[in-house]
Amino acid sequence: MAPYARLTGWGMWVPERVMTNQELEAMVDTSDAWIRRRTGIGERRIAGSQDTAVTMGVAAGRRALEVAALSPQDLDLIIVATVTSERIFPACASQLQHALGASRAAAFDVNAACSGFIYALVTAYQFVLSGTCRRVLVVGTEVYSRILNWQDRSTCVLFGDGAGAVVVEAGPPPTDALSFVLGSDGAGADLLYVPGLCGAAGPFNQDGHHYLTMVGAEVFKFAIAATVAATQQALAAAQLDISQVDILIPHQANYRIITAAARALEIPSERVFMNLERYGNTSAASIPMALCEAIDQGRLKKGDHLVLVGFGGGLSWGAVALHWAGGRN
Ligand code: COA
Repeated sequence: MAPYARLTGWGMWVPERVMTNQELEAMVDTSDAWIRRRTGIGERRIAGSQDTAVTMGVAAGRRALEVAALSPQDLDLIIVATVTSERIFPACASQLQHALGASRAAAFDVNAACSGFIYALVTAYQFVLSGTCRRVLVVGTEVYSRILNWQDRSTCVLFGDGAGAVVVEAGPPPTDALSFVLGSDGAGADLLYVPGLCGAAGPFNQDGHHYLTMVGAEVFKFAIAATVAATQQALAAAQLDISQVDILIPHQANYRIITAAARALEIPSERVFMNLERYGNTSAASIPMALCEAIDQGRLKKGDHLVLVGFGGGLSWGAVALHWAGGRN
């Protein structure tokens, strides 16, 4: 009999340092009013000099293991979604595995930018459902503050740092995940990217920088369409109607993207979770951080249907529909 899988642990960690919109007013030609009106973001966290994707991911991972009542040695696999790893190699996941003391676990990274957590989560479920692994830690961890051009007002106001993690475990039936959707359109690779070290043209973009570059208006349109389509595909595959979704947890990029997608999906705003006002866009960390806060705020009850949906550089997107089992119990 095929094994069953469910999400049994969750945790998040953010740096202490809060950067307000007012602070950004002193750095670039922007205003608190513009940022709030156009994005919904009020503040974001910024990594301290000692924080990295590894240290933040370890902190979030420890909390997720605590909730799942597991020790690091119980883990068979660690999957880390990040595009802000300290090193090109070894993987952030390898460093995190060592720092966590998860000596039995295999470890690898997933690079799907802001969709990374969904890609990693879907992968974790496949490992558990196939019987290959019993306990998988999935981490989304990002320090975008180190890849932003702090003189570019069109990008630096949008992002923040943080980490979130979940545990996916083999367990009694039923499996809580009902459907998985993943997608990619590499034709949009130039719309949102950070140059690497090994490009034929060298490690810089067309402006001579190595920072994140984005065509905001194009990404905006893509983001709405991807959120709507991925959610609809996940619901169809799970044989659910949008009216049965108790909570939609989308990637936290911009409240205008989320509200436009929610309107198109015909889901009332009180069933759509948002916390981007306090964190901005934390890329691969945004969905697990939002999931943690939704749980902590009592927004999820056992038996609820939820959809996690993400989009980002690649271009990439993905969604998972779940029948919330309430953790390990
Ligand atoms: N403060 C003040 N003005 C700003 C600004 C800022 N931080 N950033 C851009 N502007 C200006 C622009 O220069 C432009 O000025 P102009 O009309 O004189 O040229 C004006 O505001 C409007 O720019 P526009 O790009 O049309 O703004 P917008 O309302 O579309 O919002 C984004 C810009 C970036 C917020 C929006 O395009 C967006 O959210 N895109 C998706 C980004 C995203 O989520 N990326 C990550 C995906 S994972």
